[in-house]
Amino acid sequence: MNRLITVFLSSIFICSTLVAGASDSVASVADIIPRVTSFTIKDKVYELPEAVTFKVKRGNLSSVFQEYMYASSLHITPVVKGTAAITFAISSDMTGVSTEGYIMDITPKGITITAKTETGAFYAVQSLLQLTHDGEVRRLQCAEVKDTPRFSYRGMHFDVSRHFRSVDFLKKQIDAMAQLKMNNMHLHLTDGAGWRMPVDAYPRLTQFAAWRPQRTWQDWRNAGTFYCESDFPGASGGFYSKDELRELVDYASRRHIRVIPEIEMPGHSEEVLAAYPELSCSGQPYKNSDFCPGKEATFAFLEKVIDEVIDVFPSEYIHIGGDEASKDAWKTCPDCQRRMKEEGIVDVDGLQSYLIKRMEKYINSHGRQIIGWDEILQGGVAPGATVMSWRGTEGGKKAIASGHDVIMTPGTYCYLDYSQDAPFREPVSIGGYTPLKKVYGYEPVEADMESDKVSHLLGVQANLWSEYVTEDSHAEHMYYPRAYAIAEIGWSTPEKDYEDFHRRSLAFNDLMQQRGYAPFDLKSEYGERHESLVPVTHKGVGAAVSYALPYSEKYPGVGLSTLTDGKRGGWNNNDGRWQGTLTDVDCTVDLGQEKEINYVGAAYMHSEGAWIHLPEEVVFSTSVNGVDFTPVATVSCDIDPMYPKIITKEYGAPVDGVRARYVRMQATKNPRPGSWLFTDEFIIN
Ligand code: ACM
Ligand code: ZN
Repeated sequence: MNRLITVFLSSIFICSTLVAGASDSVASVADIIPRVTSFTIKDKVYELPEAVTFKVKRGNLSSVFQEYMYASSLHITPVVKGTAAITFAISSDMTGVSTEGYIMDITPKGITITAKTETGAFYAVQSLLQLTHDGEVRRLQCAEVKDTPRFSYRGMHFDVSRHFRSVDFLKKQIDAMAQLKMNNMHLHLTDGAGWRMPVDAYPRLTQFAAWRPQRTWQDWRNAGTFYCESDFPGASGGFYSKDELRELVDYASRRHIRVIPEIEMPGHSEEVLAAYPELSCSGQPYKNSDFCPGKEATFAFLEKVIDEVIDVFPSEYIHIGGDEASKDAWKTCPDCQRRMKEEGIVDVDGLQSYLIKRMEKYINSHGRQIIGWDEILQGGVAPGATVMSWRGTEGGKKAIASGHDVIMTPGTYCYLDYSQDAPFREPVSIGGYTPLKKVYGYEPVEADMESDKVSHLLGVQANLWSEYVTEDSHAEHMYYPRAYAIAEIGWSTPEKDYEDFHRRSLAFNDLMQQRGYAPFDLKSEYGERHESLVPVTHKGVGAAVSYALPYSEKYPGVGLSTLTDGKRGGWNNNDGRWQGTLTDVDCTVDLGQEKEINYVGAAYMHSEGAWIHLPEEVVFSTSVNGVDFTPVATVSCDIDPMYPKIITKEYGAPVDGVRARYVRMQATKNPRPGSWLFTDEFIIN
């Protein structure tokens, strides 16, 4: 992490403007994503010839790489005679870059690329493809470039269970990952919404557990989450043949990307247990979501699956899930209880640990390592396990401290299923608000990580859970441009300049669109809830608030002053400005002295996916003595409680010059069990 770096950002000597098709524009390495580690711009230009040729001065380039270069948009071919546009030197004795890094000199006479391995040379070519906008811009600003990744793991996650995606879609995303210098595709092959890989010994997984009568996950959920036979009329879903998966692995490896398969255990396994209910605690379909670790049949199943997964995927990592197991049925299942007694296990966390450790041993015995979500730490796990930290970074930090390798993918920054713009302008999402700027702001190395352990932090990953993402174009909209930010966090040095990154993202978005991707239109970003960006002034600012019904300790905002701090909340209910409660709201503002009141109001949030509903009704009343209150306004809800997007609604009403010292707000919750109320400011004017 202490690498000496020289970074010249946009302010320094950048005379380029990447305008696709503009033949006189000059492309600069300062314009690409991920930002190169260091570069020095020279006051010269290199004109890329029509035929882009290469030669190899030292070492070798494989035929696979040569084919890749030829098939690329620059159609790079070996030189036949004369000088080559690109001269490669592959040499393991170079210093200053990792095995994935490269040094590139762009001079008026041509380009030289030096790398320790072909992977470095591959990434240099990725830089050139982006720099030239697929060959449209031929004039290159001369520069000396040293580019080497900060982290060895730079990943993207694909949830093909909630909505199945074609091999072609995945290959297209592999191409984008290569451009972004990302090197791990995490394929979430199994989950409650569908199993996606054939297992010879368990054919029902793909005859039945891969199919459902409804196309969208939401319709399927609303219909009760039942699977169907593959030949059921209109059956939706699918699976990859083993040949297709091998082809995908090969396609990815040609682009220096490893495909990591994930098989969920013990939770998120409803689809398996519908097809093979004997692997659950109850023995009945549609009853349990977790495998029964008390039954040997479960281990026979999982081992068989792993055998076949290992046969298809060469990845040294096999992801075994481990997240969100409910473990409820284990508490009363006789098989689980017997297992716990025999093994001296005292609780169900220990039973989960038993399953994970046993499977880890099995996977290790086949020469592979496990990755698991951070829950695998519960009850202890062998040191060889790599932890994927998703519930914030605490799990990851704990794992690093105890010597585990860790991949950081904390939900608040790396989960791309949240909305990236004002939710009312975006497709329905699972909730939340995670714009590009927020993702870009993530710094994986935290101050309290021990410096001698930080090498266990392998890197970062962007996750896209696809419950709400049916269409391929929607998936691309969610990934890009936010995956650019994750790529840059993984590759580039930690210095950040969002304005510069935004500028480069706009240019790269254009290129992605030109290539047929459907990124979010960053140019027209609306951004954070506008009301939250400026303070609100009103007569209640700074006044004391008393609560007849307490707010939730989980969502206090800033506590007692939340509703009178002059700050409105943004699109995220957990941004510290919203206050949440699982009860009705009943609170009173004390203005300190009698004042004339002409308006009372408060905004509430609606986010159906997060169980946050607008109140049925809000009643405002006033008092001069704090004891006798007179209702002055009642505002009712006029929004469908199941409206799918996040919105806010101001429950406000004029009141005619009432004089009062105390103003009370009583909001009645939506009757949906478990629903929340969230409000941000009690406005009194
Ligand atoms: C997860 O989001 N349940 C890993
Ligand atoms: Zn059981």
